[in-house]
Amino acid sequence: MVCRVEWLMPSSLPLLGRLMLFDLDPDLLPLFQYNCKQFASPQECLSAPEFLDHIRKVMLVIDAAVSHLENLSCLEEYLCNLGKKHRAVGVKVESFSTVGESLLYMLEKCLGAAFSPEVQEAWSKLYNAVVKAMQRGWET
Ligand code: HEM
Repeated sequence: MVCRVEWLMPSSLPLLGRLMLFDLDPDLLPLFQYNCKQFASPQECLSAPEFLDHIRKVMLVIDAAVSHLENLSCLEEYLCNLGKKHRAVGVKVESFSTVGESLLYMLEKCLGAAFSPEVQEAWSKLYNAVVKAMQRGWET
């Protein structure tokens, strides 16, 4: 399935967001483990198919939120469960904000002048609403 949010972006831009993630918080690297195998470096992680799949999963969640802007509550149960799953794999709530920063950085690079303060605020609000719901699940 192709994510509509990704259609807005040249293919190199999600890479910028990914690179930014480990620049912002190198401690996130050990959380991305597949089959109990830890990545030796951010570069190794960034090119792993499982990690790229996770990026796609994140973007699908964002895409679902954009599609349900007027009725985000219908995603509440899904997002709460997603928060719980992330707690189970050792993700801290603060780390969701780091992902948000990378997302905004990528959008800024992609949209250039069109990334006005209003657009930035709209994306921040959307992402924060997603994270708040994940956090509710993380805390229960
Ligand atoms: C699953 C890590 C943030 C969406 C996972 C998994 C890991 C993980 C280890 C399980 C393996 C996998 O499916 O790849 C992290 C870390 C994060 C983070 C370290 C923060 C730094 C997010 C955010 C979203 C998200 C912000 C969405 C907005 C998902 C989804 C799944 C997933 C949809 C699949 C859940 C399922 O299988 O039901 N994440 N994640 N993740 N993550 Fe994340």
